[in-house]
Amino acid sequence: MTARDWWKSAVVYQVYPRSFADSDGDGVGDLGGIIQRLDYLERLGVDVVWLSPVYKSPMADNGYDISDYEEVDPLFGSLEQLDELIAALHERGMKLVMDLVVNHTSAAHAWFQESRSSKDDPKRDWYWWRPPREGFEAGTPGAEPTNWGSAFSGPAWTFDPATGEYYLHLFAPEQPDLNWENPAVRQAVYAMMNRWLDRGVDGFRMDVVCLLSKVLEPDPDGGPPRLPDGHVGVRDPHGAGVIDTTRYGDTAPLVVNGPRIHEFLQEMHREVFAGRPPGLLNVGETPATTVEHARLYTDPARAEVDMVFQFEHVDLDSGPGGKFDIAPMTMLDLKHSLNRWQEGLAEAGWNSLYLGNHDQPRCVSRFGNDAAEHREQSAKALATVLHLHRGTPYVYQGDELGLPNVGFTRIDQLRDIESLNYHASALAAGRDAPEVIQALSAKGRDNARVPMPWDGSPSGGFTNGMPWIEVHPLVEEINAALQVDDPDSVFSHYQRLIALRHDEPVVAHGTFRMVLLDDPQVYAYVREYEGDRLLVVANLSDARDVVAELSDELPGASYDDAELLIGSVPGSKPTPTDPLAPWESRVFRLA
Ligand code: GLC
Repeated sequence: MTARDWWKSAVVYQVYPRSFADSDGDGVGDLGGIIQRLDYLERLGVDVVWLSPVYKSPMADNGYDISDYEEVDPLFGSLEQLDELIAALHERGMKLVMDLVVNHTSAAHAWFQESRSSKDDPKRDWYWWRPPREGFEAGTPGAEPTNWGSAFSGPAWTFDPATGEYYLHLFAPEQPDLNWENPAVRQAVYAMMNRWLDRGVDGFRMDVVCLLSKVLEPDPDGGPPRLPDGHVGVRDPHGAGVIDTTRYGDTAPLVVNGPRIHEFLQEMHREVFAGRPPGLLNVGETPATTVEHARLYTDPARAEVDMVFQFEHVDLDSGPGGKFDIAPMTMLDLKHSLNRWQEGLAEAGWNSLYLGNHDQPRCVSRFGNDAAEHREQSAKALATVLHLHRGTPYVYQGDELGLPNVGFTRIDQLRDIESLNYHASALAAGRDAPEVIQALSAKGRDNARVPMPWDGSPSGGFTNGMPWIEVHPLVEEINAALQVDDPDSVFSHYQRLIALRHDEPVVAHGTFRMVLLDDPQVYAYVREYEGDRLLVVANLSDARDVVAELSDELPGASYDDAELLIGSVPGSKPTPTDPLAPWESRVFRLA
C-alpha cells in the first residue's frame, strides 16, 4: 500500500523531451529516445519522471502551447509510444508525471478557433475577449484593454480584427489565456485530466497554475467584468520580458494567487484526485507566489496540490527590469531565501526543491562556480545542500552531470521565444547589443535546452541527425558515458544523495534547522527525526580552509563520533569541524 505522502521520500527527474534523446534522426528528442534511456534513469535511482509537454503543438513555446490535449505531437512520437513509456516506467517501479498547461492553450487549439470565430460563439467566453480601451483606435498602441505586459515581451493583449476585440495572453500571442471563471472550461480540463489518469499517468506538474484566477472589477455599464490596469512604474516580478515599466503596469497583484485560485484547485482536487488510490502527484508551478499562499496551496488538510515550485530564489538575481536585468546575488541571499521557505512550510505544507529546470540557466553556473577547477565540486555541493533540505528534490536533465551554461555569444545560437523576443524589443528600445547578448547568455532558457550529452561524440550521442540547437561545447569533457561508472563523478554523487533519501527517514521526514545563518561561506543545517540527527555542512565558496564554527550551534553534539554519510572529496574522512576545501560538502550522522 502506497503512503499518501510517498513523494516525501521520492526524487523527481525532469525530462525536456526535445533535448533528451532523439531516436529517429530528425534532430529533435522524442519518446522513443526516452524509452531507450530508461536504464540510465533507473541507475540514477529517481522515482518519478516529469515529462515536459509532448502534446500536439505548433511549438511556438516548445510545447507549452498545446493545440490538442488528447494527442501526442508527431515530432515526439505517438500515443502508443507514450503508453509504452508509462508501462516501461511502471515496470521499473518509476512513475510518470505529465506537464499540464491549462492557464492557456495554443491559439491553434480548436477551442480558441471556435472562440475567435464570432462574438456569439458558445466558446467565446472560454477565453478573455475585451473591447479596445475607450477613446483609442483599435489596434493602435494604448488601445489594449489593460496596461499589462506579456512575460515574453510586448503587450499581453492581441487585437483580432475578425471580431474587433482583443484577447488576453500573459505569455506569447500564440498562447491565449483560458477563462477559468467559466465552469465549462474547468469541467473540460478536469475531464481531460481524468482521461490521462485513467490512461495510467501518475499525476501532473501544473504550469503557471497560480495565474488561473484573475482579479475582476464590475463593469459600471453592465458589461462583462473588467480586468483592471496594473500599477505603473514598479517592477513586475513575474514578467520576465517586461522592460518598459513606463508603459506596462504591474500585473502580478492582478493575476498571481487571484481571488478564486484556492477554490479552483480545491474543485480540481475533488473532481480529479479525490477517491483515487494514493500514488499520484500533483505539483503546481507558482511563479511570484508567497510563503503564505504556498502554505495554503500545499497544506494537505486543504486538499489543493501536494507541493509547489516557488520562485523566490530564482528571482534573487533579477533587477527592476525583469530577469534579464541581472542583479548581484550572494550565497547569503540564497541561504536566507531557502531558509524562509523551509521555516514557512515547516508546520504545514511541502516544498519542491529545485535549482534548475528548462526555464532556468544551469545551476552550477548561477549558484556555483563553473570554472574548470571548481565545477565538479560546486555541482556536488549545490546538490548536497538542496537534496538534504526538507521537501521533494527535482533533478533537471544534465544537472546530474554538472553541466554548466553554454556561453552563447551570438543571437543565431538561440532558439527560445522568450530570448528572441527580448532581444528584439531590447534592441528596439535602444539597448546595447553586446550587453543584451551577455544577459541572454547568463539567464536564457536555451542554456538548459541544448542536447543532453550522452557521450563525447560530436552530437553527444543525442542524435544521428542535425540537432535542432547546438550541442554543448564541453560535450567531450562532460557526458554521461564518462560519469556513470566513475564513483567520484557528479552523477555518482547524485546517486548517493537519492539513495540516502530512500534509506533514511530523517531525510524525508525530519525537521530542518539552519545553523550559522549569517555565515557568508558555510551552508549548514541539522535534520532531526525520532532522535536521529543529520548535519549537513558545505562550503559554498572558492575559499580554502573554511571552518564551520559549530561549537555554539549544537551544544552537546559529539563531533568526534560523527559518521560521514556522504562526502564530496574522494578518499577523505573529515569530521564536522575539519577545514573545508573550496565547495566541499559533507553529510554526517551525529552521535
Ligand atoms: C511555464 C513553463 C515555461 C513556459 C511558460 C508558459 O513557466 O515552465 O516553459 O514558457 O510557463 O507556458
